[in-house]
Amino acid sequence: MTPVDTLGRPLRDLRISVTDRCNFRCVYCMPKEVFGRDFKFLDRSQILTFEEIARLAGVFVGLGVEKIRITGGEPLVRRDIEELVGQLSRVPGLHDLTLTTNGSLLSRAKAQALSDAGLRRITISLDSLDDEVFRVMNDVKFPVSVVLDAIDSALAAGLTPVKVDTVVRRGMNEAGIADLAGRFRGTGVIVRFIEYMDVGNTNGWRMDDVVPASEVVARIAERWPLEPVDANYFGEVAERWRYADGAGEIGIISSVTRPFCASCTRARLSAEGKLYTCLFASKGEDLRALLRGGASDDAIAARLSVVWGARDDRYSEIRTSNTPRGPKVEMSHIGG
Ligand code: GTP
Ligand code: 5AD
Ligand code: SF4
Ligand code: SF4
Repeated sequence: MTPVDTLGRPLRDLRISVTDRCNFRCVYCMPKEVFGRDFKFLDRSQILTFEEIARLAGVFVGLGVEKIRITGGEPLVRRDIEELVGQLSRVPGLHDLTLTTNGSLLSRAKAQALSDAGLRRITISLDSLDDEVFRVMNDVKFPVSVVLDAIDSALAAGLTPVKVDTVVRRGMNEAGIADLAGRFRGTGVIVRFIEYMDVGNTNGWRMDDVVPASEVVARIAERWPLEPVDANYFGEVAERWRYADGAGEIGIISSVTRPFCASCTRARLSAEGKLYTCLFASKGEDLRALLRGGASDDAIAARLSVVWGARDDRYSEIRTSNTPRGPKVEMSHIGG
């Protein structure tokens, strides 16, 4: 039986973080001052094995989860990740299996290996087409061209529809919004613009740094008229807009100015096996202890139902400038 939370939301999506490490230091996610040489990442013994992840995934799917997204940190830094993809793709009853990556390690061969293992589609982050701007944002001098190649590799491997996620930060990359949209118009690649959020504790978020979704749409529609499109499924995060001339669609993720908690069906599993019921949660439920303590699948399912049944999270809807800033889980722990 699919558990339903206190606000009537069923459990439908699971986002699985497979590592807290990343080879980028995006200023809005893993700022160098905090995630520097002395930062203590999780040890191998602390993170779930592929077998443990696949077993949990089976229990989640048994409870009604239809979609799984693999995240990080950067999921492709975890060795042999296609092995996990293979295990997850064999979970009966799963409808959608995808992954979010920064694209830096997505070669032709890797994209093909992921596709062969059963990955259906992929989302690649890219904040700008301008090397200078992109370097400032990823903070490791990573060039745009490699990410564009990764997008081509994903297309060649049939990981479609390929989506591109762009976090928009005032004063950093907003001038390049229309260029990004234009680059992928007519290619079948769906660019989604994400409002910069106050996730984690380290990015020094201020409302002034957010470029509202309405402004993003206006900037693009100025060049190419846009029309709204209905959601693909209940609880879809991105609002869809299509080009009036038929050249495809874009997405807008307005978690700050138009929050979507009312239809949020997402659970998040961290690399160390903690279950978070909100991107902004401060505490997770320790599933690794259950797994390693010898709990049966039924016992784990019962626990998940209790945790989900008690869920009342709606952080983005109640966020105000004076929302208590308790310690929140880091984005690099739960992959957005
Ligand atoms: P599709 O499966 O293609 O519809 O994409 P998705 O929206 O599930 O996944 P994706 O990881 O690409 O989401 C894009 C971004 O939206 C994330 O990285 C987050 O920044 C943001 N986002 C996703 N889910 C949530 C959520 O539940 N709450 C908030 N506040 N933001 C979210
Ligand atoms: N606000 C919005 N999106 C973010 N991401 C990471 N940190 C933030 C933030 N503070 C996005 C990344 C990537 C996805 C995993 O989450 O750009 O697309
Ligand atoms: Fe790495 Fe993605 Fe965070 Fe950037 S946003 S630091 S690529 S996990
Ligand atoms: Fe879901 Fe929490 Fe995001 Fe609201 S803020 S949409 S409850 S993850």
